[in-house]
Amino acid sequence: MSSDSVLASTAGNDLEAILSMANTDVSEAIHSVKDNADAIFTWDYEKGKRPALNKLYEKAKHAQWNGETDLDWSIDVDQEKFAKDLSDMRRQLMAEAGIVLDGTPFAKWSEKQWTELSIETQNWSLSQFLHGEQGALVCTAKIVETVPWIDAKYYAATQVMDEARHVEVFAKYLDTKLNGHYPINFHLKALLDDIINDSRWDMTYLGMQIMVEGLALAAFGMAMQTTPDPLLKQLLRYVMSDEARHVAFGVLSLKEFYADLTDAELLERQEFAFEAALRMRNRFLQQEVWERMGVDVKSAMRLFDVPDEVKNQDPFQQLLFSKIVPNCKKLGLLDANDGWLRKRFDTLGVTMFEDWVDTGEEYLEMDAVTQDRLAAAEAAEAAGAA
Ligand SMILES: [Fe+2]
Ligand SMILES: [Fe+2]
Repeated sequence: MSSDSVLASTAGNDLEAILSMANTDVSEAIHSVKDNADAIFTWDYEKGKRPALNKLYEKAKHAQWNGETDLDWSIDVDQEKFAKDLSDMRRQLMAEAGIVLDGTPFAKWSEKQWTELSIETQNWSLSQFLHGEQGALVCTAKIVETVPWIDAKYYAATQVMDEARHVEVFAKYLDTKLNGHYPINFHLKALLDDIINDSRWDMTYLGMQIMVEGLALAAFGMAMQTTPDPLLKQLLRYVMSDEARHVAFGVLSLKEFYADLTDAELLERQEFAFEAALRMRNRFLQQEVWERMGVDVKSAMRLFDVPDEVKNQDPFQQLLFSKIVPNCKKLGLLDANDGWLRKRFDTLGVTMFEDWVDTGEEYLEMDAVTQDRLAAAEAAEAAGAA
């Protein structure tokens, strides 16, 4: 990883240190990162040598969709109304959790401020999704160049197309349906920089397909469950359908590659995975939202019952790891080197997900695009027969 001093300070649970790191370059239009990897050609063109990757590639060719025409952009999105509904739900959950607001800046908040918080949170979340999608676009283009296997180059090429579509639909949703953008969060940007910076091709997979996309899959799932907006629900459903394949691509590729690594090499992967996990947890503090709302960030943390030390018992935060942990287990990363990563994940309170289904198995069930096409074909057939 690139910046050791930053890593050293994110490695702990020091809230002060985490919050002191902010993106200071918010007006930059172009951000360049040194990509240290070699581009690799292979002269072994035998298709299907890796049957699991070949199957994924064939699947991906059939599951392409068009962000312009397969989503109903005519749906009118009343962000303020949806935000108010979400804000009511949030406060109800807080009351049920026994969180008392007395003595905090929130005790005197008006309805309008609560709704505003929901609006800003949504603008922030979707902006980070957008930036993360561009990260995936760039990382996967890099995998096309660096991975030595032809089946993986083929598959990665379909993922590049998927990610272009994801960037496109999130950008369009933000531009035409919401009312504000946020620049990339410091911790997310640092993580993407580290992934691109690394010279080893398997580290791109670990950082992007396993960690960033594993977390995205869980986060999109939660957003899809809670959003009252039918357009965003459908958008997320289709994006998730692709993401499940992407995470499976990481699991299936690294399973083969890790089988031949030494303990010392595996330890480097475990450390990389844990640093990525910390960075992703830190970004979910959404400090930019609190700053924009004029709320002292530390007192905002208390609103969600997060004391001075970043506490790891927030069920929402934990759920974000529900895909990452079983996938790391399947790759052998959880238990290598006397359970080095298991012990670290224990400190984040997320090891409980280890036996949940891994994405190498479940991606076929999540293929919403094919499911919708089959349903449409059956409906047409039934209408024709009637
Ligand atoms: Fe994506
Ligand atoms: Fe993806």
